[in-house]
Amino acid sequence: MTLNNKETLLEVKNLRVEFGNKNKNFVAVNDVSFDIYKGETFGLVGESGSGKTTIGRAIIRINPAASGEIIYKGQKISGKISRDQDKELTRKIQMIFQDPMASLNERAKVDYIVSEGLYNLKNYGTEENRKKMVEQALLDVGLLPEFASRFPHEFSGGQRQRIGIARALIMEPELVIADEPISALDVSIRAQVINLLAALQKKKGLTYLFVAHDLSVVRFISDRIAVIHKGKIVELAETEILFANPMHPYTKSLLSAIPTPNPRVERNKKIEVYDPGKYHYDYDKNPPEWVEAEPGHFVLANERELKEYKSK
Ligand SMILES: Nc1ncnc2c1ncn2[C@@H]1O[C@H](COP(=O)(O)OP(=O)(O)OP(=O)(O)O)[C@@H](O)[C@H]1O
Ligand SMILES: [Mg+2]
Repeated sequence: MTLNNKETLLEVKNLRVEFGNKNKNFVAVNDVSFDIYKGETFGLVGESGSGKTTIGRAIIRINPAASGEIIYKGQKISGKISRDQDKELTRKIQMIFQDPMASLNERAKVDYIVSEGLYNLKNYGTEENRKKMVEQALLDVGLLPEFASRFPHEFSGGQRQRIGIARALIMEPELVIADEPISALDVSIRAQVINLLAALQKKKGLTYLFVAHDLSVVRFISDRIAVIHKGKIVELAETEILFANPMHPYTKSLLSAIPTPNPRVERNKKIEVYDPGKYHYDYDKNPPEWVEAEPGHFVLANERELKEYKSK
């Protein structure tokens, strides 16, 4: 995807999400802004607890925004919305979850699990039509239609994640939030699931928000990548630009942690540890801002850092 002729599907503007009560609030997502273009895969990368799932859940309106807003196709979807709009969004934005062992209802048959969103919205017409839709959704993810009458425990991790994908697909979504969809899977089947997601995107014109905690996973699937650290996005760029010209020290530390196939290089490698105190000097007096360092390449930096990053 080129940055030209882009159409914005989702806008996240200065999003803040807090947990806790009146006495003590924890800011899980702090002033986060990004756009997702129609048809692209937008990668969101950061370590455990950095706020990735919280952002996904804010987009599907489970986590309320303490401030900022979320806009879908030009319409504000955070805060109060109409029932009709709610119904429409429930269908159009779907989420695939991290752990296929935990996210499927063990007592329900695949037929019911895949149909759950349809039952909620009552938008499937006849029972015969619903069955057809389930059959097609299972075929789309490479499963046999007869699996509909089985229970989740009869399936492997990879197959279970395919069921999770079918459950999202059956809604004919536009935007799919894939929240670490392969991190709980065996390494040997991760590529299959990634390839399936890529093929489905092409076939159905889907837009993805793809969440992961390491850069090597998102590199091959993402058009652009945002790096998040402790609730704040620190850098955002097209994938190849981020890899070729990382600016923020946290991005650099994530890049240095990616293993190389050469054992000799690996053995002598020094993994950079990101220690904010070591890298950022005068944030008290000169706080960082979210700035566009070069076209389409954003970084969280103060003036002095920006100059430094740009001169390299
Ligand atoms: N419902 C909640 N109540 C209180 N704190 C929460 C809640 N949900 C998330 N948090 C906290 O918000 C922070 C961000 O959590 P989040 O689940 O978004 O991280 P993540 O980046 O998805 O991590 P992981 O890679 O482990 O899934 C964490 O410190 C977490 O403990
Ligand atoms: Mg998460």
